Amino acid sequence: MCGIVAYLGDKQAYPILIKGLQRLEYRGYDSAGVALIDDELLLYKKQGKVADLEEYLKDKNVKGNIGIAHTRWATHGEPSDINAHPHFSRSKKLAIIHNGIIENYCTLKKELFKRGYTFQSETDTEVLIHLIEDIQINENVELLEAVRIALNQVVGAYAIVIIAKDNPNQLIVARKGSPLVIGVGEKEFFVASDATPIVEHTTNVVYLNEEEIAVLNRNGDIKLINIKNQKKTPYIEKLELNLHEIEKDGYAHFMLKEIHEQPRSIRDTMRGRINSSRNILSLGGITDYERRLINAKRIIIVACGTSWHAGLVGEYLFEDLARIPVEVEYASEFRYRNPIINEDDVVIAISQSGETADTLAAIELAKSKGATIIGICNVVGSSIARATHAGSYTHAGPEIGVASTKAFTAQVTILTMMALMISFKKGVITKSKYHQLLGEIELIPEKVEKVLKTENKIKGIAEEFINSRNFLYLGRGYNFPVALEGALKLKEISYIHAEGYPAAEMKHGPIALIDAEMPVVVVATKKGIYEKVISNIMEVKARKGKIIAVVTEGDVAVKALADYIIEIPETEELLVPLVATIPLQLLSYYIAVMRGCDVDKPRNLAKSVTVE
Ligand code: F6R
Repeated sequence: MCGIVAYLGDKQAYPILIKGLQRLEYRGYDSAGVALIDDELLLYKKQGKVADLEEYLKDKNVKGNIGIAHTRWATHGEPSDINAHPHFSRSKKLAIIHNGIIENYCTLKKELFKRGYTFQSETDTEVLIHLIEDIQINENVELLEAVRIALNQVVGAYAIVIIAKDNPNQLIVARKGSPLVIGVGEKEFFVASDATPIVEHTTNVVYLNEEEIAVLNRNGDIKLINIKNQKKTPYIEKLELNLHEIEKDGYAHFMLKEIHEQPRSIRDTMRGRINSSRNILSLGGITDYERRLINAKRIIIVACGTSWHAGLVGEYLFEDLARIPVEVEYASEFRYRNPIINEDDVVIAISQSGETADTLAAIELAKSKGATIIGICNVVGSSIARATHAGSYTHAGPEIGVASTKAFTAQVTILTMMALMISFKKGVITKSKYHQLLGEIELIPEKVEKVLKTENKIKGIAEEFINSRNFLYLGRGYNFPVALEGALKLKEISYIHAEGYPAAEMKHGPIALIDAEMPVVVVATKKGIYEKVISNIMEVKARKGKIIAVVTEGDVAVKALADYIIEIPETEELLVPLVATIPLQLLSYYIAVMRGCDVDKPRNLAKSVTVE
């Protein structure tokens, strides 16, 4: 939520900042702004996307070799020019950009109000910069000290960058609960919410830790302290990110590129971890915690959104293969409902971004009760990856489209490998079954490739439904989470209302909705409870609903009933989610594109939900 970029060096800052904002726009896109120092401290901001800001700045003075920039996802105050960042201090000598939420901003604001401060915006961020300047003046301290004192008064989350008109040679940055990376060049610094705006300039980075403040100086020095005023040593790491991974590579949208990347991303998730010819399956990141999983009395999976759907597949996998009871929890509910957590519970936290505030809080709660926490994250070095005891990265590569696609299949791939490995080590499946499943997992990328070849057919089906107002998605067993994920994908990018249901639940309510106007997507692959799903299809047909069925290649029975058919290659029942999800992603994508929606930046959404 919200993207921040800053630059200090010899180059003109504006082109670097604006390009950085474009790269970070997936984090929020309701308004954007920039502040630069060119003798004066110049500040410009605009409601709308980064392109609107660029257009607005076409004929403005955007010179300066120090600057900060921001793309916003509104929390406090509606999207507007005034609420956009950066924000000035009262004297207009300081400017700030901020990602996160200052939870006690009302109390701080009241105090400042009593002291005569007035506020231009409704944001918590403006309160913070007034507070900093107030401390600087009244306590007669340097800016760094004022920032440190102010951050000790703040409750909440922040990643901030501050520039000062009187010192154009310095950026002050700090973080707690919101991500921040510093790129270290030759006497120049780049600061951003993630590494994507930095990688084309330098691969040397410093990840700020919780409650750390850095002062970046034009002469190349970095001073690092924490908010308790303890000196810290900056640790420079090498970025492992390629530029082509964060570009569209000729695809119309990042989402389409990421859907097509799945054969590769699933292979990358398995790389070095699985080898069926040698009967090898190992997840290096959790080796030291394998015993905890094998002996776990219970697994609790915490996640949000699409990652929660991956968690549901995980529930089926762990119970089916490893015979360990599993509970799948929305992190936001879990953290507030006084859950029962024991020391022999293993909590698996799933998050693409590794920054989701609710998931992070759920982890901290479970940790405080003594549970073992295992992470499944995509973003290396993210807050969740660092908060867990151990974990497995998904290695799907950067996911930029706001709707999650390749991260989901990568998460399910990790869960499948984890459950299979634990079941074998626990001795609850035979060696021959283990071997056969390893071989089947390795075939998944080819099967996904085959599904992607049916893209044109799916596009044709999408065309028939662009004016639909509602959709129902049905599936049973392993295909129930697939139905939920299909419905979520459609609603978030096309704004068509869609519900996912276990197919048999339909008759307990949703069946009332079915008429000739209601498209019903049924994931009806062979095996499992296929015959029962056919009965559910009959129930829909009897009420004139339109059936779009995802079936196994060669299917006859469903084909005879459905209005539209999408075939997928046969695989083991427990691996079907990895293949059956793909056509549903494509269906949502094409419906949304044909409705004229901005699929990479759907309204009201943001990629990384760092607020509760
Ligand atoms: C849906 C989507 C969201 C995320 C959710 C959790 O397409 O992307 O539902 O899955 O916000 O995010 P992470 O996985 O980053 O914790």
